[in-house]
Amino acid sequence: MNAAKKALDATNYDTDKKILTHYLRNYEDYFAQLANQEVRLLELGIYNGGSLRLWRDYFEKGLIVGLDINPVTLNDAGERIRTYQGAQQDTTLLDSVAAETAPDGFDVIIDDCSHIGVLSRVSFWHLFDHHLKSGGLYVIEDWGTGYWESWVDGVRYKPYSTGYHHGLYRLTRAIARAQQNSFLKRVPFASTLMARGKAFVLKRQHYSHDFGMVAFVKELIDECGMADITHPQFGLPPVRVSKFKEMRITQSQAFIVKA
Ligand SMILES: C[S@@+](CC[C@H](N)C(=O)[O-])C[C@H]1O[C@@H](n2cnc3c(N)ncnc32)[C@H](O)[C@@H]1O
Repeated sequence: MNAAKKALDATNYDTDKKILTHYLRNYEDYFAQLANQEVRLLELGIYNGGSLRLWRDYFEKGLIVGLDINPVTLNDAGERIRTYQGAQQDTTLLDSVAAETAPDGFDVIIDDCSHIGVLSRVSFWHLFDHHLKSGGLYVIEDWGTGYWESWVDGVRYKPYSTGYHHGLYRLTRAIARAQQNSFLKRVPFASTLMARGKAFVLKRQHYSHDFGMVAFVKELIDECGMADITHPQFGLPPVRVSKFKEMRITQSQAFIVKA
């Protein structure tokens, strides 16, 4: 991220990234070091092709690949834009797109597609595991749709009162202490009951986290925390490190760099 930033200006492109300029400022942080390279970039979700044109003109040596469930014809695509029709969750199609356009893996993958948690997670894990280079970047846009009641799999954000939170905290603290008690650890079923009780209480604390894109991003946070999840003393075996080098969450995008 030390290379000089090259500006991404979408003024003359038909993409909503033109209005949401903070998206572009975030992209600049990651794209600067790739700007002059033979980047292979895949974007899920083409719409009118405005963002594909923007990436083509920014990455002057890049190959830009787009996929959309609807047919898209770009008259000015040139040789450096390739488009495919199909669903983001069709892993067989993703394999053939990758084989044709990035047999050594993509440098950048952007999901600006369905914004539906179950579909986004299918393409994420497939592309991340099989078709993203080590050190490559995967960007998920508009993850906040999971907070929208009117969205396919969104649920309105539901905050809790401070008093309720405090009560919950006291309860879970008491259970956590009991879980450390060496006598209770030996009582049959006590550990299971306490763990389930604590999980039941905590489940109510972060209501919105269970739905749509928000739940999917939370799953990615779990992957980020894999070393703690599988901690040899406190966690669940088998011990392993995260597949992510880093993860950055912004107002509307999640940036994941592959380890
Ligand atoms: C927000 S638009 C893409 C905008 C474009 N990336 C840009 O910046 O100009 C979302 C696109 O995703 C497509 N889409 C929605 N669900 C899809 C799915 N399951 N698989 C593939 N494409 C899908 C829609 O047809 C639509 O063109």
